[in-house]
Amino acid sequence: MQIRPGTALKLGLVALPLLAPVPSGAQQGDAQRGEYLVSAGGCLGCHTEKKDGAVPFAGGRALETPFGTFYGPNITPHPEAGIGRWTEADFVRAMREGVRPDGANYFPAFPYPSFTKIADADLRDMWAYLRTLAPSAQPSRPHELGVLYRWRLPVSAWKWLYFTPGPFVPDPQASAAVNRGAYLVQALGHCGECHTPRDFLGGPKKDRYLAGGKGPEGKRIPNLTPTRLKKSSDKELEDVLKTGITPDGDVLADAMGEVVTNTTSKLTPADLDAVIAYLRTLPPLPDEPK
Ligand code: HEC
Ligand code: HEC
Repeated sequence: MQIRPGTALKLGLVALPLLAPVPSGAQQGDAQRGEYLVSAGGCLGCHTEKKDGAVPFAGGRALETPFGTFYGPNITPHPEAGIGRWTEADFVRAMREGVRPDGANYFPAFPYPSFTKIADADLRDMWAYLRTLAPSAQPSRPHELGVLYRWRLPVSAWKWLYFTPGPFVPDPQASAAVNRGAYLVQALGHCGECHTPRDFLGGPKKDRYLAGGKGPEGKRIPNLTPTRLKKSSDKELEDVLKTGITPDGDVLADAMGEVVTNTTSKLTPADLDAVIAYLRTLPPLPDEPK
């Protein structure tokens, strides 16, 4: 893999906390680093209402799914409306295990099946950043779900079937860049939440990882394995993920347009290269039948 001069050092610096275990009882997280990680995680999109003047992270964003409409909650440090009373441990448990402070399950519309892979040190920094947000008193909106899907208890069965908690484990055979890319794609970027096809219970088809298929709104989601991406050069993919404009001049639509604005356009050049380097190493899978 080609690394541009100067990026190797940056990449090493960014990857370091991921590889080095942090001693327990370590000091407070680094909010500035956390801000970058929160943008790489696309938290803003789902936790901010889609209207002019919406307060960032104050919740209210509608997420349509086959099971009903979820609303991203307020995650600012407001003591009642947000998560101001939470401890860092509550946050880590929510992200790693998909469990609320009171022990109930979160619905996987909150992409904790991907976020579980976020490294401890990164979770600590993200928490430090979220604590710096201005508290918003805007109450979270209740979800509007089909009668069959309202209950949090059956989510335990879903989790038993589809959810494997635990941080990302680097592949010792792969380069540092490919591991960094794998971490960004699988954990923070949660690209598989849209690009991996799902079965009728809404579980990802693991043997079809990133192979695309029908999205929640019935629209086709492209295959991100080399079957399709081999047609684009690294430079072309970099431009698509930075600008949202394809080599043919098409503009990537809604869901991906937002991912580009909130996430991939904000990645450092080294991280963007790492994402592309990792996608190149995926097994080429055929498109999902129409
Ligand atoms: C695809 C949309 C989506 C993305 C992206 C997303 N979330 Fe969420 N999040 C949700 C939904 C929906 C819930 C509510 C789940 C439930 O009620 O079971 C939630 C719940 C939460 C909660 C629990 C709030 C509470 O009051 O219990 C926290 C904390 C949280 N998200 C943090 C984050 C962070 C940090 C990120 C970025 C790394 C993030 N979320 C990205 C959709 C999303
Ligand atoms: C919220 C859903 C969603 C998420 C999350 C998501 N994507 Fe996408 N992606 C889409 C959709 C939908 C399209 C098709 C957009 C279009 O054709 O206008 C797309 C298109 C793309 C394309 C263009 C492919 C082509 O051949 O046209 C690339 C590259 C891509 N996504 C990469 C990524 C990466 C990398 C991530 C993770 C950082 C990611 N996507 C996360 C929904 C998503």
